[in-house]
Amino acid sequence: MSTRRRHIRVLPPVFLLLALLTLFVKLRSQGEYLRSRRTQVEYNENVLLDDINNATLGFEKIFVINLPIRTDRKDAMTLAASFSNLTLNWIDGVSGSTVPERTLPLEEYKTPPGESERGSWRAHMNALQAITENGHASALIMEDDQDWDLRLREQLQTFALGVTTLVQPLRISRGKTQTYADPSFPEPDAVNKITTITHPNLPTTIPPSISPYGDNWDILWLGHCGMAIPERATTTHSKGIVILHSDSTVPGRRDLTTDLKSDGGPNLLRIAYPEHTRLIHHAYRPVCSTAYAVSQRGARKILYELGVRKYTSQFDNQLRELCDGEKMRETRLVCLTSQPSYFSHWRARGREEKDSDIAETKGEWRDKGESVNIRWSVRQNLGRFVRGEGEWEDQYPDR
Ligand SMILES: *[C@@H]1O[C@H](CO)[C@@H](O)[C@H](O)[C@H]1NC(C)=O
Ligand SMILES: *[C@@H]1O[C@H](CO)[C@@H](O)[C@H](O)[C@H]1NC(C)=O
Repeated sequence: MSTRRRHIRVLPPVFLLLALLTLFVKLRSQGEYLRSRRTQVEYNENVLLDDINNATLGFEKIFVINLPIRTDRKDAMTLAASFSNLTLNWIDGVSGSTVPERTLPLEEYKTPPGESERGSWRAHMNALQAITENGHASALIMEDDQDWDLRLREQLQTFALGVTTLVQPLRISRGKTQTYADPSFPEPDAVNKITTITHPNLPTTIPPSISPYGDNWDILWLGHCGMAIPERATTTHSKGIVILHSDSTVPGRRDLTTDLKSDGGPNLLRIAYPEHTRLIHHAYRPVCSTAYAVSQRGARKILYELGVRKYTSQFDNQLRELCDGEKMRETRLVCLTSQPSYFSHWRARGREEKDSDIAETKGEWRDKGESVNIRWSVRQNLGRFVRGEGEWEDQYPDR
């Protein structure tokens, strides 16, 4: 046999091997490409979204305001946070008697507020001061009596998609001029209609680079006692609404509490939408601020307006003035929220006087702790958590 012929016989297997190898490498990288494409599309190409699974819910810090004498609340909050794998930073609550009148930016003829109002204002200012001073990109601030659903991270991931849909610029395709999916953002009076966008059919926006919740917000109002929904005729607020149907973390209509509302009108979530609907929209006439996130930009604006420039009333009212763009404020903040609220006030078992540090009376005995609108309540399930049980109680089972 000649050498030439031997070459010919050896070559085909070598070629075949090389060809197979190339094909294998190609398919593999294509598979990886497709896999990464798929998760990106599902996640609206927001690669930061997974950070919401971290110990601070995708914010840089979580601050909890606790009056040091309320050790009971700190004990319970510590357990609840441990249950949910959250890392907390404590901010000492402030007793109003230690807050001198001259530290408040009061107007000339304004009557100084009472002690509890002063103390609450100062504690929130201290939290905002820490965020500004340390340059945190964002932080969640909450009171020490908050309750949330065990599925909080899933809820917040969807919330983040909703927020980015409303305030991140659209990925511009050729021939299109619209910048935001919501044409009434950021100039509300330009458009006289509600824009509803249904999850998960969300338009593609430019992925955020600072926060998983988007790079264009001041306040995420995550814990409130009531909130209005922008309506067609609303001229002061952007009117984009992201709708989630069949959200199993939302109680059925009969158990949904939406009563506390600043203007006293009917709450549309209860009467105008199917059961188990959640709405994500711009905060409008919010009541109480028991849990809210701020961006660095937001923290500076609030510290300036409420700490330096003008004190008007209770802390949550002042925050509302900023979100609603009321005339005593220099700027309107970009504030987003969800209905129902993700955080809710936990009323612990025991005498009702526990609920407040300013109540005069001892109040009624409460036999079982409760919170409105939270189904798989972290507080309700603390006993199961420490006993290592894996079945959670639903505060508001469907009926
Ligand atoms: C959680 O994610 C946020 C957003 O990316 C980041 O700023 C923060 O540092 C992360 N926190 C932890 C504890 O990893
Ligand atoms: C907390 O972390 C543990 C251990 O990784 C996990 O089993 C548990 O499901 C987490 N809990 C929540 C509420 O995320």
